[in-house]
Amino acid sequence: MSKIFQIAIDGPSGAGKSTIAKRVAAELAIDYIDTGAMYRAVGLKMLRLGIPMEENETLFEMLANTDVDFSEGRVYLDGEDVSNLIRTQEVSKAASDCSAFATVRRKLVELQQAMGKRKSVIMDGRDIGTVVLKDAEYKFYLTATAEERAMRRFKELQAKGSTDTYEKVLEDVNKRDYNDMHRDVDPLRQAEDAVLIDSTNMSIEEVVDFVIEAVTGEDIRK
Ligand code: DC
Repeated sequence: MSKIFQIAIDGPSGAGKSTIAKRVAAELAIDYIDTGAMYRAVGLKMLRLGIPMEENETLFEMLANTDVDFSEGRVYLDGEDVSNLIRTQEVSKAASDCSAFATVRRKLVELQQAMGKRKSVIMDGRDIGTVVLKDAEYKFYLTATAEERAMRRFKELQAKGSTDTYEKVLEDVNKRDYNDMHRDVDPLRQAEDAVLIDSTNMSIEEVVDFVIEAVTGEDIRK
């Protein structure tokens, strides 16, 4: 596969998009672009600068002077590696809030489209197949039941020593789904030409194999 191609993966949070996308990227030797990390980076910058969570002139000016980029799997905000800093609960909330703003989306979609033009990429997010890479050769909508996604997240949190109950995690998952699917600008939805993958009863390997086979055909992996 020598020509440049794009793979779009959308779906609700906790469906395993980033895990799958990273593995597929490694197998196909292409770049992985985690667009959620870009919204997180903007959320982090807003928190740091104390910019109120609303669309205003300050946010507009801040965005004009903001750069978000990736290098070797790390995300850089204005040249600073913020890969670890963007994974806190506080930044998750800020990312979710700022992702509803049209100015933020316009800025990040522009950056994402530029990244997708230069080389073969696999990009995951909420609006990749519908907005960012509308013409992507391969589109997938990866989902699982809210209960299954909450259980996966609950186990992850428990391993980290969290005391959150399963019910609380499920409530958060449902809340995030609602926000992602009901915002005015570019809400999460399955693109008409995206292949649906319900991973509720699938292992990570099964999903990775499914995507690789859909993209390359079985024989290319041998
Ligand atoms: O995938 P994630 O949890 O890292 O994403 C962080 C937030 O950004 C999440 O609330 C959804 C939002 N997001 C978005 O609106 N559009 C994207 N393409 C990617 C993420």
